[in-house]
Amino acid sequence: MEKIIDDLMILVENACKKENNIFGYGIWSHHIKPMISLGQKLAEEYGADKEIVTIAILFHDLVSIEDEKNCKEHHKIGAERAEEILKKYNYSKDKIERIKLCILNHRSSVNNSKNSIEEICVADADAIIHLTEIGSLFYAAYKEMGKTMEEGQKWIKRKMEKDYNKLSERSKLKYKNEFETVIKLL
Ligand SMILES: [Fe+2]
Ligand SMILES: [Fe+2]
Repeated sequence: MEKIIDDLMILVENACKKENNIFGYGIWSHHIKPMISLGQKLAEEYGADKEIVTIAILFHDLVSIEDEKNCKEHHKIGAERAEEILKKYNYSKDKIERIKLCILNHRSSVNNSKNSIEEICVADADAIIHLTEIGSLFYAAYKEMGKTMEEGQKWIKRKMEKDYNKLSERSKLKYKNEFETVIKLL
């Protein structure tokens, strides 16, 4: 299993290095990579399958990185792409299905219900990572979207509020203070 994860780390990092990646290399260094450690920590604490969480995190934004046309539907296209790649490794069918659900349901803006603990770990990690990698939100607001100082700050504040609201109840309890402090500062 280590082999798949090592290969996927290379595949995703390489996609992040390409010029057509609209998010820049930071989506690897300040989003996906730290999300893997966080997701694994949550998986351990919440009793989820670490391998499923890790692989789903590696795939969760991949198709948007590869082609910005996929952004809007990246949860659906990403799930299909994960299946296609994992099948080549003869990866277990059951685990592929569980990984696909994590990718399909990782977005708060697409209101899908999360049923498994692995889906919760991936979606929660996607939001909680903005606490430790808050610089990535400033980068998105000011550099990528070209917002004014005021608009940018408002956007980040709203984003943090949305991130907090989408968390599972146990993550809400665990990260309440951190989110409240950041939101208060913005
Ligand atoms: Fe995403
Ligand atoms: Fe993400």
